[in-house]
Formats: sequence, structure tokens, C-alpha cells
Amino acid sequence: MNVFTQWNAAAAVRTASIIGAAHIPRAVDRIFLAGLGQELKQEPFERVNETIGPVTQAFERLMFPSRSTELFHLSMLKAAVERVLSSVAGEFPSLAAWTPDDISVQKYGPDDGITSHRDHARNRLIIAVVTVCGSGTVEVLGDERIGQPVLSCNLAAGDLMLLRAPGLLGGAGDDESRPFHRVHGASGCGPRIAAGFRHLGGRHGHDLH
Ligand SMILES: [Fe+2]
Repeated sequence: MNVFTQWNAAAAVRTASIIGAAHIPRAVDRIFLAGLGQELKQEPFERVNETIGPVTQAFERLMFPSRSTELFHLSMLKAAVERVLSSVAGEFPSLAAWTPDDISVQKYGPDDGITSHRDHARNRLIIAVVTVCGSGTVEVLGDERIGQPVLSCNLAAGDLMLLRAPGLLGGAGDDESRPFHRVHGASGCGPRIAAGFRHLGGRHGHDLH
């Protein structure tokens, strides 16, 4: 069973490394995606409404995230993301160590979203987010919390988004290489469900700031 369609992973990672994010439309095979959507829709979700410092977030998340490794399609997607990112380790050697040891599944309704934030520095190298169903916009702002987006991604089902994280570029100030971004609510008739894959390297948690 194919998980991904044909797309240029090296070019996508290169784009993320330069501007902070990359949007790969229709990156996931349509038949696989249907199975993944069915699987996730059967899982229970719990609501999150919180404000952490300057960041307000509203969405639902999988109630039992530890079950994510038991879900057939989600596990296959995890393995495929790991495979495709490690395939570009020739150009980005740090990605040879990238393993998706943190999986999150979030569901956004039309009024949900996350205000401008950077993901925590403990998420290393790169973050991959697959839109499983629905659609919605993520705006990538670059180094400033407020301002015009450098990239506006209208994410639809099957799209992959990559976000640059510390360690991908290396060098001084690399922890600041995380782009600010805003997640908007679902734009279609149903919720947007997104599966996120992060490499923690042994450090866990989901702080925003
Ligand atoms: Fe984020």
C-alpha cells in the first residue's frame, strides 16, 4: 500500500530550511488517506481551550495519544514520514537521527485555531504535519510574532506541511530558527484533522510560547 505520492522530499526540506516551512499538496495517497481518516474519526477526542502566555489555542486532540502507535494507518504514516525524511540525510545529515517519537492528532472546527506561536525548541530538526481530512489555513510568519505571513498554506486533505525546527541548520542561534505561525480554523464544511510528527530526542512536552 502506497502511503505517499511522488514528490521531491529534498526540495521540500530545502524550502523549509530556507523560509521556515514548506507545503506539499496531495503528498499522501488518496486511498491510504481514506483509510487513515476512517481510523481517526473512530477515536475519541477531547477539547483543549487554553491560553499560555500570549498564545491562545482551541482544538480537540486524541484522548488517548498513547494508542496512536496501535492504529494501523497512523503507524504506517509514521513509518513513511520517517523513511522519506531520512532519505534526504545526504543533503541534511542531521535528519538521519530524526525519528517521530511524538505523534499528535488535532481536530480543528471552524472557530478553532492557535494564535501566533513557535513550537517548543525541544521539537528537533523538523516537524511534519499531514492534513488527514478537511481544510484550513496555516500562516507562517517568520521571526516575528506579528506581521505579514511569508507563506500562507491552504491545507487540504492529503497535504503535508514541514516546519523548520532547531538543529536542522545548526550553528549559533539555531533555537531561534523556529518560525512563528498561526493556525486557523477549518475552512470547509467539516473539521480539519491533522496528524503531527515531532522528534523530541527524549525530551517530552508540548509547551508553546
Ligand atoms: Fe505550532
